[in-house]
Amino acid sequence: MLRWGWGRIAARFAGWIAIGLGLLACGMPAIAAPADAARGRALYETRCGGCHERSVHARGARSAKSFAQVRAWVAHWDRQTGSLWRDDEIDAVTRYLNDRYYRFPCPGEVCGTDRG
Ligand code: HEC
Repeated sequence: MLRWGWGRIAARFAGWIAIGLGLLACGMPAIAAPADAARGRALYETRCGGCHERSVHARGARSAKSFAQVRAWVAHWDRQTGSLWRDDEIDAVTRYLNDRYYRFPCPGEVCGTDRG
């Protein structure tokens, strides 16, 4: 009887937790959704804007030739400056730079289904 009682309580809690997480996910699309460019912009401007002219991304002879290479640069500079970003933050910064300057096709796992 007691075990059944606890099981019932646990089941109720699980329901509430699921609802709570659902609400959280709706309230914070930046966490639930694929990397978003606005967050990437804020991250980039905080840490990277001061050093190189943003024009390095727009220059004719820029080195990055694909989304993956832009990401590799972002990861490189993150490492150079202290490895502060998680993978999804590196994705967000890459997406920001890509949306703004490079315009390479963005993989679905980073940009979601809204673009290639
Ligand atoms: C110490 C100065 C410095 C800092 C800090 C810095 N960068 Fe750079 N970045 C450079 C220089 C210089 C280049 C050009 C390197 C080259 O072409 O060999 C560059 C190139 C790049 C490129 C490639 C541009 C191309 O040619 O396509 C990307 C992307 C980039 N940086 C992103 C970042 C990000 C993201 C950060 C912040 C985590 C950052 N950088 C911080 C100096 C810096």
